[in-house]
Amino acid sequence: MHPMLNIAVRAARRGGDIIVRHVDRVQGLKIDTKSRHDYVSEVDRLVEAAIIDTLRKAYPDHGILAEESGLEGPEDCLWVIDPLDGTTNFLHGFPQFAVSIAFKRKGVLEQAVVYDPLRGELFTATRGEGAMLDDRRIRVSNRAGLEGALIGTGFPFRGLERLDAYLAALKAVIPVSAGIRRAGAAALDLAYVASGRLDGFWELGLKEWDMAAGALLIVEAGGLVSDVLDRYDYLTSGNIVAGSPRVHRDLLKTLDPFLLSGPLA
Ligand code: IPD
Ligand code: CA
Ligand code: CA
Repeated sequence: MHPMLNIAVRAARRGGDIIVRHVDRVQGLKIDTKSRHDYVSEVDRLVEAAIIDTLRKAYPDHGILAEESGLEGPEDCLWVIDPLDGTTNFLHGFPQFAVSIAFKRKGVLEQAVVYDPLRGELFTATRGEGAMLDDRRIRVSNRAGLEGALIGTGFPFRGLERLDAYLAALKAVIPVSAGIRRAGAAALDLAYVASGRLDGFWELGLKEWDMAAGALLIVEAGGLVSDVLDRYDYLTSGNIVAGSPRVHRDLLKTLDPFLLSGPLA
């Protein structure tokens, strides 16, 4: 394993252990509301601190972009961290959440870890070296297109001005696909695309820390990732579509008529 990935895995496992220790204690947690329907608990903060501590010990000169503490340090070597992706699930005891850590050098994603601490599943990738689930190589599915595909998505819940366009797009995808899943942890959704459990995924208004690790997993697993309009950078716009190549193509084509108004983030 690449030494940087090794450190990222150590950090993710440390964070995941903290999450698991709190799973049965969510009732007593202190929860703050960042914005309507957007929560952060002390677990998010504890996990983030533990991850940053592990990364900083190994790479004191690197920058960090983390969901709860923001950007610190130089951006040419940058760790992008979502300490607990799926906080709402976690707070409700819905068992679908993960730690997500990516490393970018001069804007290029190089390392990725998505760790599901309840299932103990570790998704990893290093640029140019493929993607893994635990110790086996993963590939995106080989589905021929959207027809019969299982598609993941996320409903807009912050920027509700996007809801109508989103629902129109959803209405177009439902009859063609085999089914739609809204599991509530985007990083894990993307890891599921990388491992072929989902054939494709789209969501609007995500943040870089939701997408960075999952996106590298998908690319290294032979899939494609882009903005929903294929004209913008998804890491900046937050509007992502991903999938195995033919599902990605079909999803883009299906979504395009409904999302013509430019970057929505
Ligand atoms: C959220 C989850 C969710 C997605 C939201 C994200 P958080 O991340 O990934 O699936 O729909 O847009 O904000 O806030 O739980 O880290
Ligand atoms: Ca997230
Ligand atoms: Ca989070």
